[in-house]
This record gives sequence, structure tokens and C-alpha cells, in this order.
Amino acid sequence: MKTIEPCTLVIFGAAGNLSRRKLIPSLFRLEIARRLPEHVVILGCSIELRQREEWIAEVVRMLEPVYPQGIDQPALERFCARMHYHAIPRGDDAAYQRLQQALEGNAGEGNKTFPPNMVFYMSVSPAAFPDIVDKLGNVGLLQQKHGWRRVVIEKPFGYDLLSAQTLQGSLYKHLNEPQIYRIDHYLGKGTVQNVMVFRFANLLLEPLWNHHYIDHVQITQSEDLGIGGRAGYYEGAGALRDMIQSHLLQLLALVAMEPPLTISAEHLRDEKVKVLKAIRPITQNSVHAHAFRGQYTSGSIDGKTVPGYLEEEGVAADSTTETYAALKLFIDNWRWAGVPFYLRTGKRMAENSSAICIRFKSPPQDLLRHTRQGPPQPNWIMLGIQPNDCLKMEMQVKVPGLDLHTRAISLDATYRKDSDEDFEAYAGLLLDVMQGDPSLFLRIDEVEAAWRVVDPIIKVWAMERDFINTYQAGSWGPRGTYRLFDRDDQFWRHSLEPDGAILQAY
Ligand code: BG6
Repeated sequence: MKTIEPCTLVIFGAAGNLSRRKLIPSLFRLEIARRLPEHVVILGCSIELRQREEWIAEVVRMLEPVYPQGIDQPALERFCARMHYHAIPRGDDAAYQRLQQALEGNAGEGNKTFPPNMVFYMSVSPAAFPDIVDKLGNVGLLQQKHGWRRVVIEKPFGYDLLSAQTLQGSLYKHLNEPQIYRIDHYLGKGTVQNVMVFRFANLLLEPLWNHHYIDHVQITQSEDLGIGGRAGYYEGAGALRDMIQSHLLQLLALVAMEPPLTISAEHLRDEKVKVLKAIRPITQNSVHAHAFRGQYTSGSIDGKTVPGYLEEEGVAADSTTETYAALKLFIDNWRWAGVPFYLRTGKRMAENSSAICIRFKSPPQDLLRHTRQGPPQPNWIMLGIQPNDCLKMEMQVKVPGLDLHTRAISLDATYRKDSDEDFEAYAGLLLDVMQGDPSLFLRIDEVEAAWRVVDPIIKVWAMERDFINTYQAGSWGPRGTYRLFDRDDQFWRHSLEPDGAILQAY
């Protein structure tokens, strides 16, 4: 376990959605687990004028829904003792001078309240990143004279390749690369890290992990939630930018990368970026063969009627923003030549589930053809990410009895024990930033490579504004996505149970 040096964590947008739902609860979870040393101080920044006590009361309100049975009082007292607040009202640039004074006043003699090592977390709308970094830079808060300074940038990093490069240029005015932590919270999820352990700590799989044995790979993230109150952001983003450019391409990179020299941050990221660069470019002419988009209409989730995307508050009546996106990608390298990687994500889908499903090829001879009805059932390896982290391997066995019949069984290696600790992805990532470990954060070349993959699709979809396929909320997405599949025996796998491999209607 690495140690954390004394530091100040400054959260911009501290009263916003991400902070309320993820950052503050994750920090409190670390407090309960006694993983936050005494000398870590948290400073919330937001536009509202508030006294420190009012901020602390707000923090308690953020935690109450997470602990309906009651909050651990000693931990809460410790947590509140770390909390400070600084208002940055809109248009009040002097607020940054005051922030600098609060954080660095008496720096020479040692500021009693705020340790000089600082993390600045941008939990704000992406449009605000450059401006805040610029203002922090202008008041000198990003200079590493008295301690280290790190900036966490939330996704999306830009809205296409060009804007990502422009954003990068503006960050480089005040920061160097090791100071920038581009967060992708999927890399903080247990199963996602387990992909590496599973692949590289088990020799068993490596001989099979290539185009000789693997038929195709599916990466799915589906959620039954809609866009919540985020129309302002989502209308301009859509599922492709929101989920695929970041989270799903990262999952693909972890599944497909070569073993890194070591698991140091640079070696790991070198290998991921190689995979992303090896993805066959999708030309604008081939977008329709490789990408499918859809938008939800009203439907039913958990027995309740939910509105369609166009009825959500803040969404334009003629919006063609996609809430579902599916891609077929090929990685043109030695290991993966010819193996399709199917990625899909959607909001208001039938279930909340994220998984990586790897389908193997069929044996070279179908010796047991006469023992079953229907098509052969190849092997699958499945890594469940949500709602449960699990690992399943599907194989064929003989059905007990006098006759030779086969059926699929699942070797279920659900590896979580009841006694295992459970942390939100953000908890581990926040610790990593404080410890200065960038392994699970994105390097700029990874971000650029990921934008290069999706940019041509973004361009074509942006031009096609008259029509978008729809799907009913609560379903598995639009009909017609099967046209992405290379062959008739490939289909979306909706469930990790053995009967999930039964051919789906669409
Ligand atoms: C975020 C997206 O990055 O990830 C959201 O902006 C999405 O739209 C969320 O809902 C999904 O994260 P998780 O951890 O709930 O799967």
C-alpha cells in the first residue's frame, strides 16, 4: 500500500451531480475504511455563497441517501473536520486570487490549514475545464514550488479529435503531462482491473487468446436509466462520445493488448495505445456497415412508464442524438486479424448490465452433431462488470442418463466473497491521484487514438439529421443492429446465464 503525502483536494463543482453521487460518497467510504490519512484536507468549490458549516450540512445531506440505516458518526466527524468551502461565483475572477490566498497564504511558514501538495478535481461541465485551469495557472496555483500540483480532468476530453487537441494545448500552457490525470472511471472498476489479472496471471488462457481460437468479442454496457437531468450535456454528446470513445474502447484495449513489459503506468499505457492505433479506420463510406445508432421512445421500465428521449426536458423536438450505439471494429494486428469486436451501449435498455463476452470458435469437426438439436454451442468466457463482478466460462457436457446428449453448463467463478471490501471505482482512483499513480488514467495519445476511431462516425451521424432508428424504452435496443454481425451465427448475448447463448430475435 503506497503512502499518501499530506495534501489538499480541491473539488470544482463540489455541489454538482458527480460530486454528490460519486466523489463525496467515495471519499467518505475511504474515511470509513481509514484510508484517508489525517492530513488530507478537502476544499469544495462551487458558485454558491456558503459558510463552511452550511457546506458541511450539505455534505451530510449528500451522504444520507447512501446510508439509509444511519451514518457512522465517528467517521462523519472525522470527515467533516477535513471539509472546507470556497465560493467562486460566476464572473468573479477575484475569487481565484482569494483561493490562492486561502491555499497558499503563509506558504513560507507552512499554511496551517491547507497542505501545499494539491489535487484540483474538475467535476464541472467540460466547457469549463480550460477556463478554470487557466485561472488557476494565472494565480500561480499550478506551479510546483512548494509542493506538487495535479489536475484531474473528467471525461469527455474534447468532443472530437480536434477539440481534444485544442483542450490539450490549453492545459499545456500551465501543466506538464505528469500533472494531468484524465479520469475514466471504468478503469477503477474491480472487474476491469481483473481483466489484466485474469489474462496475465493465468497461463492457461494466453495460448487461446488470439484469432486462431476466438470467433468474436462483445463488449456491452446497458443501463435502464435515461439521461436524468443531463440533457444539456447529453444532447451534444450522445452515446458514442459518452460511453464508447472512452469507457468501451478502454475495455477493448485491455482485452486485446499485448502483455506489457511491466505493469508500470507507462508500459501499460504503451500497450493500450498500440491496440487503439491498430483499430482499422472506419472510412466515411463504411460507417453504415460498422456503426448503428438508435434513440429510445417511451416504454416501460420496472413496470413504470417512462418518457421517450424526445420528451425529456431540455431535448430538442427534432433531436437525432443517439442514446444507443453499436460498433463493429477490427484490430489489424497479428493477434486479432479478422476477429470482430462488437461494442454496444444504450440508455433505457432492458437491464443494467455491463460485460465482456468472448466467444470461441467451434471445434474443427462437429463429431457430436447427432447428440443435439440446433446449432453447435461454442465456448464462451464472460467477464461480468455490473451489476455483479463475475467470471463465467461456458462449456458443453453430457447430460446424465443413458443417451448421449449435450448441454451447456457455466463454470461460475464469482470471485467476490461476502467479506470482501466493496469500493466505488472513484474511491480507488482518488487514492491513486493522491498517491501519484497514473496507471489507471489516460495518456493524451490514448485519448487521441480513441477519437480517431470514432471521428468518422461522428461526422457522418452529424450530417444525417433527418432520421434515427428508435427502440422502446425497456427493450434491448433498436431492431436491425444484427446487420453489423459478420455471420448468421453471431448475435448479441443479453445474459450471462447458459440460456443467454440462445439466438436472439434481433
Ligand atoms: C458516465 C456517463 O461516464 O458513465 C454516463 O457519462 C453513464 O452517461 C455512466 O451513465 C455509467 O457509469 P456506470 O459506472 O454507472 O456504469
